[in-house]
Amino acid sequence: MNLLTFRTEQDLNRAGAGMIASLLQIKPKAVLGLATGSTPIGIYEELVHLYRSGSLSFAKASSYNLDEYVGLSGSHPASYRCFMNTHLFDQVDIDPANTHVPNGLAVNLEQECAYYDAMIEDAGIDLQVLGLGHNGHIGFNEPGDVLVAGTHVTDLQQQTIEANARFFDSEDDVPKQAITMGVAGIMKTRQVMLVVRGESKAAIAERALTGPITTECPASLLQLHPNLVVLMDEGAGAWAK
Ligand code: GLP
Repeated sequence: MNLLTFRTEQDLNRAGAGMIASLLQIKPKAVLGLATGSTPIGIYEELVHLYRSGSLSFAKASSYNLDEYVGLSGSHPASYRCFMNTHLFDQVDIDPANTHVPNGLAVNLEQECAYYDAMIEDAGIDLQVLGLGHNGHIGFNEPGDVLVAGTHVTDLQQQTIEANARFFDSEDDVPKQAITMGVAGIMKTRQVMLVVRGESKAAIAERALTGPITTECPASLLQLHPNLVVLMDEGAGAWAK
């Protein structure tokens, strides 16, 4: 595991975008695993900046997102599809047909999960961007007695609903379920870039990366990933110095 702590948000954003840009330069057809939430926004902004400056192209790349709310269409402003279009896809030259986000409106959700897993398996994700939930979740793999290997429908925990209420008009509007890639899908990716920001995540970051490997902290499984890079700001990563 490579733990990196950055003095400024800009340094962190540049490092994260730099990892993605280097991959795309070496492998233009790279398969990106992407995440939503507030954590990766600065990295996506930096990628847009690199694209506009002419030093980066996504023309041959493809992407698979970690998760999506059940019941939201891609045009709902709080959907992860809308998030990705707004923050990245609409602003760079990626082919929209090559961008994938689970379909939260699928009539048969089980079928959608199986379809998504087959696509990920076939594509092979080169670099997976991950944020970290305050309860240790990755994607929407919530803590519990068990974790699920493949893409699946999950019930969101109250803490997650509260944390994500800021993206909705009210807490009641937050969907209670989501489709998420499972932990096996995440662990099979060739490289993981876990990004953690802010003092409020320092304790869970330390627990996930140095504590016991347990389903009670899904991110702790990442300790077993052969190619994990962790990018933290000083708030989240003070313990790692
Ligand atoms: C959300 C997402 C995760 C994200 C996490 C942290 O629920 N499903 O993919 O990493 O919570 O979000 P944030 O970056 O806004 O703190």
